[in-house]
Amino acid sequence: MLELVERHIKSYGGEPRVFKAPGRVNLIGEHTDYNDGYVLPTPIDRYLWVTISPREDDAIRLQAMDYNEWAEHRLSSISYDKEHLWANYVLGVAHSLMGRGYILNGFDMSIHGDVPLGAGLSSSAALETAVVRALNETFSLGIDPVEMAYIGKQCENEFLGVQSGIMDQFVSGLGVYGKALFVDCRTNTHSLHDLDPDCAFVILNTMVSRELSGSDYNVRKSQCDEAVRIISEDHPEVKALRDVDKTMLKGTWGKLPEMISRRARHVVTENKRVLDSLKFLKEGDMKAFGGLMYASHESLRHDYEVTCKELDIMVDATLDISECYGSRMTGAGFGGCTVSLVKKTHVDGFVEKVSGRYLKLTGKKCEAYLT
Ligand code: GLA
Repeated sequence: MLELVERHIKSYGGEPRVFKAPGRVNLIGEHTDYNDGYVLPTPIDRYLWVTISPREDDAIRLQAMDYNEWAEHRLSSISYDKEHLWANYVLGVAHSLMGRGYILNGFDMSIHGDVPLGAGLSSSAALETAVVRALNETFSLGIDPVEMAYIGKQCENEFLGVQSGIMDQFVSGLGVYGKALFVDCRTNTHSLHDLDPDCAFVILNTMVSRELSGSDYNVRKSQCDEAVRIISEDHPEVKALRDVDKTMLKGTWGKLPEMISRRARHVVTENKRVLDSLKFLKEGDMKAFGGLMYASHESLRHDYEVTCKELDIMVDATLDISECYGSRMTGAGFGGCTVSLVKKTHVDGFVEKVSGRYLKLTGKKCEAYLT
């Protein structure tokens, strides 16, 4: 991070402090977090770094090292920056902090990252987490890690207009590299779990870029809300799809529009898959874990309809590889990456085989990242 620090000093002077936060890959539990459900992500060894030095006035001076771009704002008049989209993750976090009553001063900040952008590996949550950490320490705000995650989420929901859940910020802030993080997104109860030392989670990027805002993400969220509205007419105890089980869903199936029932079915079955996969992880039954990953992908493909041709091709390309126990799209979908559970000894062969097949069928060269 020497270059980032040098850039900071050269641009602003001062003695900057450095903060970082990782991207993540979600192992299972997709589109469940904003339904008060369960998720099982893990941090990846790729990060967003920020350097920060406080100022006496209320100016916010920002530079994105990777784009060689600069932006300047004032704390007292923060508004969405249409020209520098990357700056909004910093501005949104500062805005959320002030909205919660935290007192900030101006600051100078430089940003750099190696989490692939638009790949569903949560570069935005990593940036929000690094920024909230930097501001928390620099201005001695005393915020605990769970609230920090919610500040990042608030930035997404209110400043950027994406109705996302808590998973990404939670794992970026509270995850531990090399361990799966189970989160109950209603209660914030969470626990860390060892991964199988004989298996690897291999990430393959379809190179189809995924844009969260303006995408169908918010539409999926409102379809889930619609399902809850209708189901709760018969079952007033239902506050979120988390509260719906298979029997309840069956009973209300005809009442819901067909597409809405499929959306709800994905969430209900996916929540069960997360709980089951956690059990299999603890028991060391990785074959069974992998089976649930394939089932998750099928559900995201047909019921939730957030995969795309390239994601399906990439998952299908793993089906006959016996050293691969499971594979699925990861993150919001509509492009981005798959995650596959592979025997550690066979990772190289797996990557070669799947990327070769993918190239042949799509004409696209994929990228592989190892967790
Ligand atoms: C994005 C959102 C998360 C989550 C996933 C889908 O990454 O930021 O909150 O909803 O999509 O599981």
